[in-house]
Amino acid sequence: MIERQNIEREAHRSLHRVLPRIEEMLRPEIKKDGQGWMQFTSRLHENFSRLFTLYADVYSDRYDFFFYLEDLIASIARLWFSRPQDLRELDIARESNPRWFESNQMLGAVCYVDLLAENLEGIRNRIPYFKELGITYLHLMPLFKAPEGENDGGYAVSSYRELNPTLGSMEELNSLASDFRKAGISLVLDLVFNHTSDEHLWAERAKAGDEEYMDFYRIFPSRELPDLYERNLREIFPDEHPGAFTFLPTLFNGRGGWVWTTFHSYQWDLNYSNPAVFNRMAEEMLFLANQGVEALRLDAVAFIWKQIGTNCENLPQAHALIKAFNAVARIAAPALTFKSEAIVHPDDVAKYISPEECQISYNPLLMALLWNSLATRKVRLLSQALAKRFKLKPGTAWVNYVRVHDDIGWTFSDEDASILGVNGYDHRRFLNEFYRGRFAGSFARGLPFQENPVTGDCRISGTCASLAGLEKALREEGENEVELAVRRILLIHGIILTAGGIPLIYLGDEIGALNDYTYRDDPAHERDSRWVHRPRADWEKCAKRNDPSCIEGRVYQGLQRLINLRKENQVFSGGELEVIRTENDHVLCYIRRYMGKRAIIFANFADSAQGIPLRICEQYSIHTKTILHGSSKMTDCNEITIDPLDFLVFG
Ligand code: GLC
Ligand code: GLC
Repeated sequence: MIERQNIEREAHRSLHRVLPRIEEMLRPEIKKDGQGWMQFTSRLHENFSRLFTLYADVYSDRYDFFFYLEDLIASIARLWFSRPQDLRELDIARESNPRWFESNQMLGAVCYVDLLAENLEGIRNRIPYFKELGITYLHLMPLFKAPEGENDGGYAVSSYRELNPTLGSMEELNSLASDFRKAGISLVLDLVFNHTSDEHLWAERAKAGDEEYMDFYRIFPSRELPDLYERNLREIFPDEHPGAFTFLPTLFNGRGGWVWTTFHSYQWDLNYSNPAVFNRMAEEMLFLANQGVEALRLDAVAFIWKQIGTNCENLPQAHALIKAFNAVARIAAPALTFKSEAIVHPDDVAKYISPEECQISYNPLLMALLWNSLATRKVRLLSQALAKRFKLKPGTAWVNYVRVHDDIGWTFSDEDASILGVNGYDHRRFLNEFYRGRFAGSFARGLPFQENPVTGDCRISGTCASLAGLEKALREEGENEVELAVRRILLIHGIILTAGGIPLIYLGDEIGALNDYTYRDDPAHERDSRWVHRPRADWEKCAKRNDPSCIEGRVYQGLQRLINLRKENQVFSGGELEVIRTENDHVLCYIRRYMGKRAIIFANFADSAQGIPLRICEQYSIHTKTILHGSSKMTDCNEITIDPLDFLVFG
């Protein structure tokens, strides 16, 4: 162990020991690219002590620490030399404007390549559509080589350097990234770094008994340690296998063994207590950055470190490792931004977000509470969360969304709920019943995901439109309900587009795509209800997006108006938000401020019209003349009324 007070000195000494050795190793590269080497060493000097401290935090008690440290720096240097010139220029641009993603021009979207457009060529052909929508950030979900059949929508990666051949090649991805950049779109990909598929070369070698690679995973010859760990673990995919381990009879020369598999049995958790795993993943990360990927979505961040006696989620070492990856990126691909995917308690979500760790993060709390407000028609939990948990450190931003490819988990804080007199457990049960359409008055058509009979726990699948009532309204009700459903869709999108941070649209939602139940006929998907909200893009329907007389047009044009509202008003940059209490439980109100500008937003979650009290109109000088979006009327007593489910914005 290195004493804390000596860490700076040790970092300095290590760098001076390592550098000459690396210079020796990479002499030809340095000779060819002297300027590149200068840039590299300058960034290395700047960030080394941070990287060293983090790396030492996790690994310094190993006898071979220095070996791995040197191996890491050599890898980073090699990958830097293969970083193309245009990306090196982007590095400099991002370094001088690290808050680029806080702009109101930012608009994110996410899709599966095959479902949206068959392959990468198809995606390239859709660039005009992305531009029409105003997208500046596009997350293509995992497109890497993966097992045939079940592969968790690509989240079981068999190689980080090869694509699924039906989607395209790495060269195509590379050129797509630069076409995107020319169109003002940043390419976002996943770094699925908690696990690989069981067909990854590392896993294949581990299966064959190669000890070096068995050490890449968490493999146990008996139940002794798995049992100890499982005492404190949460089950993530209980439908698929109980606990967190999968038995493989062929391991240990046919005696059998247990592999740590937090998610599916074919997704093997990597063993980050082995520094070789960190080093190799750092290489994969830089390799992807060098293809032109501008942001990486760090998948399942909460699970990367395990320790007996804990629930093995959100441990301090997980943070140290992500920060170490961040330091690696600052040295060899500084344009790269990290997005954290932590669908956990809001206290824990917040801990991943900082310029030194993940600059941007999904906001699962806002997402869950938007749906909560639609169900209850009340905004108390939402308003409390925005007041208490929305503010972030400078240089970071939320990624606000209403739906993605995953289920909805009700990850609000029970402590926050109890302050408002709400019992978290009961309320989750209510929400699950509501969104499964089993509660009287429910408009939703959702499905349960990973229902756990032991804990009563459950999450919800369904597209935005189906959960918001459009499916039920179109199939069983009438125009009145259809209109309410459209308003619900637009209301929650209005909030993610104006609250502050990067709004993220799950493609398909912009035209109100409904649940797709055909996943039940596909053996690779039938057991995973999340496929109900992963429909294939329907471009015929999409062609009707400018026809206001059909559903697609109503949703698309409504959304387009909200996107324009965002892009035309600089006040929606940054993340400064102040919640205003409206004395009306149905109406959410917040003020946005940016560089001397302000906007005041009202969101009415009731199916009936609601009034804004005179006091608020006076205090904030709200007048129907300064309206930026929505419709409202002034009553006789100078109050403003908001239409049912309306999203109303004043300048
Ligand atoms: C992430 C993905 C999810 C996947 C899981 C395991 O949470 O969003 O789809 O099942 O990681 O990789
Ligand atoms: C769990 C995990 C989350 C993942 C999800 C997939 O909620 O915490 O990371 O996205 O499962 O369903």
